[in-house]
Amino acid sequence: MVKIGILGVGTVGASVANILETNADILEARAGKKIVVKSGVVKNLSKDRGVSIKLSDNPLDIIDDPEIDIVVELMGGIEEPYALVKKALENGKAVVTANKALLAYHRYELQEIAGEIPLMYEASTAGGIPIIGALRNGLTANHIESIQGIMNGTTNYMLTKMINEGALYDDILKEAQDLGYAEADPTFDVGGFDASHKLLILASIAYGIDTKPEDILIEGIQNITQTDVAFAKEFGYEIKLLGIAKKVKEGVELRVHPTMIPASSMIAKVDGVMNAVSVVGDRVGETMYYGAGAGGDATASAVIADIVDIVRGNHGPMLGYKKPLESGLSLLPEEEIVTNYYLRMSVDDKSGVLAKITNELEKFNISIESMLQKPHRNEDVVKLLFTTHSCQEAKIQEAMLTLKKLECVHGEIAMMRIEK
Ligand code: HSE
Repeated sequence: MVKIGILGVGTVGASVANILETNADILEARAGKKIVVKSGVVKNLSKDRGVSIKLSDNPLDIIDDPEIDIVVELMGGIEEPYALVKKALENGKAVVTANKALLAYHRYELQEIAGEIPLMYEASTAGGIPIIGALRNGLTANHIESIQGIMNGTTNYMLTKMINEGALYDDILKEAQDLGYAEADPTFDVGGFDASHKLLILASIAYGIDTKPEDILIEGIQNITQTDVAFAKEFGYEIKLLGIAKKVKEGVELRVHPTMIPASSMIAKVDGVMNAVSVVGDRVGETMYYGAGAGGDATASAVIADIVDIVRGNHGPMLGYKKPLESGLSLLPEEEIVTNYYLRMSVDDKSGVLAKITNELEKFNISIESMLQKPHRNEDVVKLLFTTHSCQEAKIQEAMLTLKKLECVHGEIAMMRIEK
């Protein structure tokens, strides 16, 4: 018999306990041993968790219990779970975690501490979608060319409603929170941080790259307006918050930002709270993974898959490398990213303005691909919207600063990246 201790019996923890009980027959057959939850730890013992397992409020009741074989960490936070997972590994216990923030900051230290002891984290990224297993195992023959995907359900739900129903940002954020997908602090969702944690985990497996969220380009969906949505529709794009990891000649691009993508692409069709990740391998070509990125049962499904793998002795090295990757790739500096851009600005509605703007863009060698001008009712300014041919991020940033200084340009210039 294998005994489990669960740190954090919230929605996911309760689902883990309940699925292990209700699906015990099939799990015993698949794992080869009976798997039982011995106990769980919660902060507030007076709250009903909907589980029949023994509960305590002291994590050491699990970490130091010699009978517990596998510790499941579902607490959230970073430093407290780090200390507890470290201690569990030092006590020789296998660990399964769904904690993306913990891994975004401490995955390499944890890998070092774990050594040969299993430390599994399928549930940390895209909930129920087995994307970690796909990268660590299924695609292991490949050099990974790119990973691109919708890694946050809350923002995908919000964007879908904003685009399809013209819903207002604040109303729709509240709806997403009520659905129970949003983080405790929804800034993590709308600001792109949650997606960045998941992207870094995937990039470690794909490229062996050690970076922190602070090192990469992260932009959220807060500044998207109905004007951008209308432009995207008119020019055949969808707007999605994407996590992108891409191998280029000079290194690896890692970025999270709202992105215009062709409306005909598969990811563009992924709506609501669903997640989807496309991985391109040099031998396999493009593969796609789609499913629920959050929610109790979906996330618990990934947690239990890890438990079964551990029981079967199937775990392998944490980030997928038994030896350091000699040809290690480094993070491409943000300024060196090359892509297409969409710009939105308010300008005077008078002759010569367009010439002034294109003249400035020419100085940066930026070429316009498409353009749309929308008059403001009863005002002598217009909204100017255009997309560029591909150019370097540094150039577009400098051009935006220069354009902002022109007398004919009013207020902030909004920019969105385009992936073709
Ligand atoms: N807040 C996350 C989301 C939950 O909306 O996708 C899963 O990590």
